[in-house]
Amino acid sequence: MLLLAAFAAVGNWQRMRPLFPDPLLENLRPTGGKTLFRSLEKMQALLHDEQAERRGGYLRHDEEIEAYGRFFGIGTALKASVVLKELRPEGFETVLDLGAGTCAASLGALHALPSLKKVIAMDRSQSAMRWGQDSLRRFRPNVDVETRTWDALKPGKLPNADLVIIANLLGEIPNERLIDSLLRAALGAAGPNGLVVMIEPGGRSASLGLIRLREAAKNRLPIAGPCTGAPKCPYAENPRAGWCFSELHGERPEWYEKARQLAGIRKPGLTFSWLAFGRRPQHVQSPARAISGHMKVGHYLCTERGRILVEDLNRSPRRGSLLDLETCPRAPTTKEGSNRRRPK
Ligand SMILES: C[S@@+](CC[C@H](N)C(=O)[O-])C[C@H]1O[C@@H](n2cnc3c(N)ncnc32)[C@H](O)[C@@H]1O
Repeated sequence: MLLLAAFAAVGNWQRMRPLFPDPLLENLRPTGGKTLFRSLEKMQALLHDEQAERRGGYLRHDEEIEAYGRFFGIGTALKASVVLKELRPEGFETVLDLGAGTCAASLGALHALPSLKKVIAMDRSQSAMRWGQDSLRRFRPNVDVETRTWDALKPGKLPNADLVIIANLLGEIPNERLIDSLLRAALGAAGPNGLVVMIEPGGRSASLGLIRLREAAKNRLPIAGPCTGAPKCPYAENPRAGWCFSELHGERPEWYEKARQLAGIRKPGLTFSWLAFGRRPQHVQSPARAISGHMKVGHYLCTERGRILVEDLNRSPRRGSLLDLETCPRAPTTKEGSNRRRPK
């Protein structure tokens, strides 16, 4: 009995890897827990006050900036890092972080890409960026960090950069025309050899917003991810079938758990949607994106043929992960959307 319990414990331990990598955790772990929790409560109230949100109220005071930078920041940094580790751009030196706030996305970029030397952060909140600048310098003391006050509604000509990141900003841009001009400016800044990476929350409306951009741009611009070559996004074809998002799971530190509950976030894992313009990574021969969780009938994957059902993956990939159909053990696929089981 005891032996069985021990095996179960080891099994659990193996399944639950830490959600956050140590370097991000060390950089953003709060110093005064109580202050963080109080500030998060205050910030939640501001986030629910539309007027305050429009005026950037939730990132105006030091306490809220600190709470945002650590709690939401660590999640955003991880998301950016995961995306960039998949895209693996080589030799990138400069990142332009638009709507940078506390520079969490840049932090994730520094974590993923050791070649980065310079961060240009642009946002309307100087105080949030100052906090972010300190965080980036703590993380990599020799990184060059420049901050510029900027209005995303009038993007203008942006400084050139290898990588442009736009994280959690689109929800604050009031219409599609302005989003399109922001994207145009970002693409201009990244140039033909660069990458533009957009990261948004994992909910339906944020994801469908990115799918709209993808469909509008796909014939003019190379899409680096999450798409794997399908001519039309399966969710653009059939929005009722769902939306495209990624999930990250793992063991969360105690302070993060408490903050999550205070912030009223019910799901313990991190979810996000993303879209990247630029060269598609070459390291996967036959790429397929896991776009469902594990179901009785198998897994839905998004491939160059669109959505397919794979019935016998011998492991359960996390939603959003990139698989190689050449190398991952699997059964022949059924038709798009079909629930037919593979004949025995
Ligand atoms: C939800 S926060 C995201 C911050 C950061 N990108 C992240 O993911 O942690 C949105 C950011 O957009 C900035 N922002 C909102 N509207 C803006 C505008 N019109 N011009 C410039 N920045 C804006 C806010 O100041 C805030 O820093």
